[in-house]
Amino acid sequence: QMLRRVYWLCLFACALVAACNFPSITAQNVAASKSDTVSDAAHEHKPAKKSFKIAIFTPYVGNSQILFNIRVAEELLAAGHRPTLYMLHMHDMNITELPVDPRITVTHVEGSMGLNGSQWLEDQAYFAFNNIPVWDSEFRKAMARWGEIHKTCERFVTNQTFLAEVESQGFDLATTYSINACPLGIIHKTKIPAWVFLNSGALMDSVAEVMGVPMPPSYCPPFLMDAGEKLCFVQRVKSLLGTIMYQRGWRSMVADVETRIFRKAFGPDF
Ligand SMILES: *[C@@H]1O[C@H](CO)[C@@H](O)[C@H](O)[C@H]1NC(C)=O
Ligand SMILES: *[C@@H]1O[C@H](CO)[C@@H](O)[C@H](O)[C@H]1NC(C)=O
Ligand SMILES: *[C@@H]1O[C@H](CO)[C@@H](O)[C@H](O)[C@H]1NC(C)=O
Repeated sequence: QMLRRVYWLCLFACALVAACNFPSITAQNVAASKSDTVSDAAHEHKPAKKSFKIAIFTPYVGNSQILFNIRVAEELLAAGHRPTLYMLHMHDMNITELPVDPRITVTHVEGSMGLNGSQWLEDQAYFAFNNIPVWDSEFRKAMARWGEIHKTCERFVTNQTFLAEVESQGFDLATTYSINACPLGIIHKTKIPAWVFLNSGALMDSVAEVMGVPMPPSYCPPFLMDAGEKLCFVQRVKSLLGTIMYQRGWRSMVADVETRIFRKAFGPDF
């Protein structure tokens, strides 16, 4: 009996030692590989801390969007980079100017084609806080108004001063937003070598599609669909139809229209 007790005690002790060592061994391995990666990275990029020039294309459509971009610019500034905020005006709107750190360059660019900014903000609030079906005439009118936003792209693209200024800055990186695809063309035209999407909200379907993020409609309901995490069969059918409609609509109403604007300005190969 004594022997048996010692045997179990040994087994228990061995198990305890193994259990305690396992995580520490894996943690050590991870720590070792992490520090290797860090030193490799530091070795490759000398000097380790580089200051980048960053263009932040900000949709001037409401202070929630503007504030988000200002905060990002301030963080980049604090990290030693040189951000420039390009405030892209898309509507006629008089909103309270938000304070920006004076070390951040702010350039306002007018792109409004006479769209009523107060109406835009009212639409946003009305459709966010009321349950309006997509076939409602008010909804269709609002969608038509939102569909006009691409017209602002023409004003940005034909502003030679703006394009020349962006190009002459020699930016290392640009950020853009998900409302339309206009800044992508501007980034390409002004030869900024790298860019990222900077979205203040959820991953937009259009962004997911162009970036290659899979959004299978049987699990991911499309933009504006009222559904939870689990979809029943009927919801999946609805989701599939909505996804097809959204993708087609976004391409034909936004991206393709803007591509035509760039081609009109810079030739058919753009
Ligand atoms: C904004 O303010 C200017 C000057 O006060 C005024 O002329 C303009 O009509 C205003 N625009 C809107 C959309 O309220
Ligand atoms: C813009 O829309 C607001 C809100 O709907 C309205 O009160 C205002 O008269 C409109 N302004 C113009 C210039 O149409
Ligand atoms: C063109 O862009 C510049 C900023 O680079 C801006 O100051 C100017 O107002 C814009 N011109 C027009 C006509 O919108």
